Amino acid sequence: MSSTPYTSLLPQRSNRNYTIAALAVGLVLIATGTYHQRERLPSLRLDALAGQRYCTNDELSVGHGRWEQVEIDAHTWPRLKQSVGYTCSDNRHALMCFTNDATQLPRLAASNSWRWKPEGCTLRPFDAKKLIRRLGDNSRKGKAGRGLLFVGDSLQLQHVQSFECLMGQYVEEGFMTDKEVNGLLLGEAAGRLDFVRSDYIAQPENDYEIIMPETEEPEDIGRFVRKWSHLVEDKEFVVLNTGAHWGGMTVRLTSVSFLPPSLELTVLSPSPSPSPSSPALHVPQDRHLELYHNVAQDVISLIDQFEHVTLIVRGSVPGHVNCSQYSAPLLEADSGVHAAYNWQAFEHYNKIWKDLLEQHPRHQFLDVSATSLRGDGHRLPDTDCLHYCLPGPVDTWNTLLYHIIMGL
Ligand SMILES: *[C@@H]1O[C@H](CO)[C@@H](O)[C@H](O)[C@H]1NC(C)=O
Repeated sequence: MSSTPYTSLLPQRSNRNYTIAALAVGLVLIATGTYHQRERLPSLRLDALAGQRYCTNDELSVGHGRWEQVEIDAHTWPRLKQSVGYTCSDNRHALMCFTNDATQLPRLAASNSWRWKPEGCTLRPFDAKKLIRRLGDNSRKGKAGRGLLFVGDSLQLQHVQSFECLMGQYVEEGFMTDKEVNGLLLGEAAGRLDFVRSDYIAQPENDYEIIMPETEEPEDIGRFVRKWSHLVEDKEFVVLNTGAHWGGMTVRLTSVSFLPPSLELTVLSPSPSPSPSSPALHVPQDRHLELYHNVAQDVISLIDQFEHVTLIVRGSVPGHVNCSQYSAPLLEADSGVHAAYNWQAFEHYNKIWKDLLEQHPRHQFLDVSATSLRGDGHRLPDTDCLHYCLPGPVDTWNTLLYHIIMGL
């Protein structure tokens, strides 16, 4: 029986063991070893070759790993989609770099050719079937709490659409539109996947208060500050983020005029004269942090009313100035590359959450700071250097979310 070219490259098992043993002996010799160096070798081997220890949440951050190049099949758009594990329905803006024009395929291919590799530990490999089974646990046990609610701004919409695409084969009914409030039903009794657009989580025009479940949503409510609290009680997880719309710098929201109106996409852009319709303006930076802290506390108090609900706060990832210059991930963190808009404030927002959540160990901080190295793969260089192409770096937020949920 002839073996495939791939397996024929591997030595026979006994040879392989011999090779490893020889390599180990070689390493010891090269180390011209003190006794201590020799002793370290077995544990090194365990990590590098077996690698079975799963990362703790603290080991997911940007300082604890690197982006590793992987091969994907990017021959055609459908093949790329399959290669990255997307099984959602096609032809929506989530599945392209602003356009599904074939000219973008090489860029999309490049930005999908990287996987985050933490050092000294491994991530649970994303498995949609295991996740859907896990999400159905409460149903089978007759316990409260089904499915997930995603709350946040347009980046959170990307997060949930990526989640939908990675779980596409288990979507029973519906799909994530680009609407401010929408959702779908997962299969296998896993409950709903809901999304609510709420740029600040709270209502900036009303003292940054969160609309409580029993309070009716005002009829004239803004499109991007919708009520979400009423969708918490039936969920098992609330995945939440807010950051990009808070600001120490003067920013305003502008619609990208060349997009079809149905896409409802916004980008942050500098404002020469602050728009009165954006109440978050005119507030100094430290006041913003105080407000942000209060909102975060209110979120935790609200979720804590429901014992069966776990809050997972995704960290905010800053954009990259002049992002067209990047064709691969950065090798190390550099706050200088984020020097625009309020991007450099994101680390303060993340710290506020981390500190608060430490006092509430039931809830989780989803550290996606690895993405801060991803200057490549942005949706529209250099116009939009904050959002990403889908599929792309945002998918990592879901592989990390998976890692956390499966580890609870
Ligand atoms: C971005 O590009 C502008 C215009 O070319 C340049 O002046 C600026 O220094 C660049 N900034 C960074 C951080 O690369």
